[in-house]
Amino acid sequence: MATVLALETSCDETAAAVVRDRTILSSVVSSQIELHQRYGGVVPEVASRQHLETMNWAIGQAVEQSGCTWAEIDGIAATCAPGLVGALMVGLTAAKTLAMLRQKPFLGVHHLEGHIYASYLSEPELNPPFLCLLVSGGHTSLIYVKDCGQYETLGQTRDDAAGEAFDKVARLLKLGYPGGPIIDRLAIEGNAKAFALPEGQISLPEGGFHRYDSSFSGLKTAVLRLTQTLETRSPTLPVADIAASFQAAVARALTKRAIACAQDFGLTTIAVGGGVAANRGLRQHLTEAAEPLGMRVLFPPLKFCTDNAAMIACAAADHLNRGHTSPLTLGVRSRIPLSDVMQLYREQG
Ligand code: KG4
Ligand code: ZN
Repeated sequence: MATVLALETSCDETAAAVVRDRTILSSVVSSQIELHQRYGGVVPEVASRQHLETMNWAIGQAVEQSGCTWAEIDGIAATCAPGLVGALMVGLTAAKTLAMLRQKPFLGVHHLEGHIYASYLSEPELNPPFLCLLVSGGHTSLIYVKDCGQYETLGQTRDDAAGEAFDKVARLLKLGYPGGPIIDRLAIEGNAKAFALPEGQISLPEGGFHRYDSSFSGLKTAVLRLTQTLETRSPTLPVADIAASFQAAVARALTKRAIACAQDFGLTTIAVGGGVAANRGLRQHLTEAAEPLGMRVLFPPLKFCTDNAAMIACAAADHLNRGHTSPLTLGVRSRIPLSDVMQLYREQG
């Protein structure tokens, strides 16, 4: 059993948590959303500065609320990639410093591996293999989870991430930031069949379409064209109908690809993660499509789907249990493929 203190600062949440294997002892998340709202999106420099301001407080709270003494903490971890480099640096430097001071093993964690581990926090009995559909503001990935550190990315977006598409469409409809929750709320009152919007297929050179990859930039442009046309007809836009039609197109695209992956690879569990997992359209569409096929779909509670440090600690605890630790020379990386996760660790005999 491993108890890990982890820090997460890859984007706009400053988070610290203490987790024992798959049990959360404390989880502190300080969101910067309000700070970035006035700019309509995350400003990297502002994010780094705010992480610096909040980090010490978050660590203090996480340790205190966990009820653990430092002697009971077996390792210290932080997200090291992918993400905003300046923001990642704050958490990683704090974790390395603490590891040196307290003479504990240090672990750098891949942010997406953290999102995968979020499913274990709400379903401690879950075990690989399963398919993870990770849909956030920065990622849209279909990941074949084979074991700790063993992942194959089967599908991804070729341009905008699903959450980014929600945010951009909300901006062009002048609805505010972040757009996902606003569109989700509006879609309830709208007619999802009001407008036919494209699903964003990726053409293959040999003909046909990619079964797992997605594209959302064409869908966003289609919504832009639609609003421009509608504005020439009437000064008030049918915003709820546009939101519902757009959300349905995203839900259809993600569901189709996730089901295709699960079927092709013989996987019967689909665990969804990332902020877009909160979306009611996606939840309904995917669940309805998967159930008749005998597939189980897991949607963890939202607090585990959006960025948090508990999921990072949970991933680090599993690695630490297997004797994996990172060198203190490990730096941050804006990108690193999930298939290269084991490069972050050296195995101890
Ligand atoms: O996972 P997350 O908190 O942060 C990262 O991007 O890593 O995801 C944030 C994204 C934003 O783009 C936001 O608009 C979207 O998740 N989101 C939603 C919903 N709640 C959050 N998208 C659709 N429907 C929602 N209910
Ligand atoms: Zn994330």
